[in-house]
Amino acid sequence: MYTIAVINQKGGVGKTVTSVNLATALKHKGHDPLVIDYDPQMNATDWLMGREATDDDATIFDSLATWDGDATDEWSFANVLRTSESVGIDFIPSDRRMAAASFDSVIGRSPVFPQQFRCRVQEFRTAEVQRNSSSTMKHDYCLVDCPPSLGRSIATALAGADGIIVPIHADRFSMRGVSQLQDTIKQIRKVHNDSLRILGLLPNDLDLRSGLVSDMQEKFEDVYSDILFETAIPWRSKVNEVATHGTNIMEYDGAADAASYYLNLADEVVERSRVATAA
Ligand SMILES: Nc1ncnc2c1ncn2[C@@H]1O[C@H](COP(=O)(O)OP(=O)(O)OP(=O)(O)O)[C@@H](O)[C@H]1O
Ligand SMILES: [Mg+2]
Repeated sequence: MYTIAVINQKGGVGKTVTSVNLATALKHKGHDPLVIDYDPQMNATDWLMGREATDDDATIFDSLATWDGDATDEWSFANVLRTSESVGIDFIPSDRRMAAASFDSVIGRSPVFPQQFRCRVQEFRTAEVQRNSSSTMKHDYCLVDCPPSLGRSIATALAGADGIIVPIHADRFSMRGVSQLQDTIKQIRKVHNDSLRILGLLPNDLDLRSGLVSDMQEKFEDVYSDILFETAIPWRSKVNEVATHGTNIMEYDGAADAASYYLNLADEVVERSRVATAA
């Protein structure tokens, strides 16, 4: 399972729509993605669960807070994940306590804090391989929808990820944000996870009629040509509608054009992750 953290410290750039719509595109192409909602805002959870979460719902927080090295415990990812009825993909819900996790060690034993997500991912991979009694896992991609921050909870997500997707707006602030993000990634690689790679920057929510947006896109292409995805997602009302109605963009009436961008992105993600894994 190739684990991708969808991050940007900036809010509202499309981390959640990218996580969920890319997952549905991967599913459409025959893959079996898992979405993990790592954000205490719970936007992906609301979308995928199709209702407000309650205290009885097991979440990513339960899974991380209880990790003690026992792969068979009741809070393992395998036991916490559920299938979205409305979207048809597997996911692990978030809860509001994930906000506290970024400030202190509420989540538990602070010395191992950054390792908990990594260990849960690892034990999940192992458990799936054992269950299938072959070298294959049921889930081949995991998309982690992260909160808008570069704080401690992002560090834990990145410690357990293989690749990173960064949705960006075509503006000057996003340009500066990417270089801050690269510094954070360098630190994480040094301390926790030296195999972490940026899979790609994804221009999102573009108003293609604006000259300013084309100028900024050209700037991004100059500076980040090596990591920019070829796919760029324009502003599309259908993207907003599927998020609002909590549904699947591949099946949503009139959304074929919007869905086609995510299908192209899925092809790029599969190819880049294949190359990264082979390297
Ligand atoms: N390509 C697009 N076309 C139209 N609307 C979009 C597009 N991308 C994102 N949006 C809308 O912009 C808003 C923000 O998107 P989203 O929630 O995915 O951002 P985010 O980065 O996850 O936000 P946060 O940082 O708060 O978690 C949502 O209302 C979403 O529907
Ligand atoms: Mg979000």
